[in-house]
Amino acid sequence: MRWTEGRTEISFDAGSFPAKVGGVDVENPVWLAPLAGITIPPVRSFFRQLGAGLVHTEMVSCAGLVHGSGKTFSMLRTADGERPVVLQLFAADAETLLEGARMALDRSSFEALGINMACPMPKVTRRGAGSGLLERPGIAAAMVKALVPLGLPVWAKIRKPPMTSPMDTLTFSGMLLEAGASHVCIHGRQPSQKYGGMADSSVVLEAARAFPGRIAASGDIFTPGDAKRMLDGGCSAVFVARGAFRDPFLIPAILEGCGFTVDPGHLADSPGSRIDLMISLGERILSEEGEKAAIVLLKRFLSGIFRGLYGASRFRQAVSRSSSWGEMRAALEEWKASPERGEQCDRREASRRDRSSGG
Ligand SMILES: Cc1cc2nc3c(=O)[nH]c(=O)nc-3n(C[C@H](O)[C@H](O)[C@H](O)COP(=O)(O)O)c2cc1C
Repeated sequence: MRWTEGRTEISFDAGSFPAKVGGVDVENPVWLAPLAGITIPPVRSFFRQLGAGLVHTEMVSCAGLVHGSGKTFSMLRTADGERPVVLQLFAADAETLLEGARMALDRSSFEALGINMACPMPKVTRRGAGSGLLERPGIAAAMVKALVPLGLPVWAKIRKPPMTSPMDTLTFSGMLLEAGASHVCIHGRQPSQKYGGMADSSVVLEAARAFPGRIAASGDIFTPGDAKRMLDGGCSAVFVARGAFRDPFLIPAILEGCGFTVDPGHLADSPGSRIDLMISLGERILSEEGEKAAIVLLKRFLSGIFRGLYGASRFRQAVSRSSSWGEMRAALEEWKASPERGEQCDRREASRRDRSSGG
């Protein structure tokens, strides 16, 4: 990977892609983060279609695989056109992790194996998994070492370790790389913060400078500027997480902001084509996962969409009231057919027009 050194900062260069990052060939460094309950195959394919350079599965329990849970095995499905995809696993010890990883690779193939050392949820941490591993660096290193012989790149996703951890962010990341990890993503929040407060980007940038090309950033990537700042600072990639469901078209906006070529139909001035993409996402979730999943996920993806366009808030209300995919699809089609929907509006102008049309 190549960055151009300026006098005072390093600036990201889109011309250095496609590239190998963490042992995986990727078209760009803007990736879909692992998101439990969300990054199922149709959603991953959708974000790859929008240009994401790489996608992650939801976190998959190795204990679930070892105990033969059908639900856990169903999380190993992959779709055509979604590669490269990283399988993210979690476990509390190296033996279970290795056994689960072997079982997963017997079923499906992935470009890399990721280890979750970041999840702060008590049902995961009380067994010592997820961010519990930040307090057990010896086990975390043993996990990386256990997976390396499987032959795929081993990645880790960590949080900023808590004060009680024996290691700080830099030392912990360095230890994982030393143990054989090809890549580490750092979410700059401590586990106790869950998703509140601000992510500490300075600690992520410090690690990126210490381990060039091997540290990705997670946390508060909500605008193209947020992503550019982390890439300019030397991060090998950014993980887009809540930003992707606040605005599903954030990834193409980031790519455009970073100098990559983007399909114009994915950008803000093509609302009609964006609606078609959302409809096809809904149809795909409906056929693969059922109506409940289609409604729940589309509500999530549509709740913040099309802000600033005339009629968007009425459209979003119609979406949130929908109780079937048919109703939701009708709301999308109706908004697409509205002659004014593509117009930018300011609030005062929108309410004046709503009043005069009795809306
Ligand atoms: C609903 C939800 C599910 C998540 N699931 C996972 C997961 O399965 N594995 C993981 O490593 N992180 C998971 N995360 C954390 C995100 O990948 C990301 O690190 C975090 O949200 C910080 O990024 P953001 O501030 O841009 O949202 C999840 C976050 C959310 C909000």
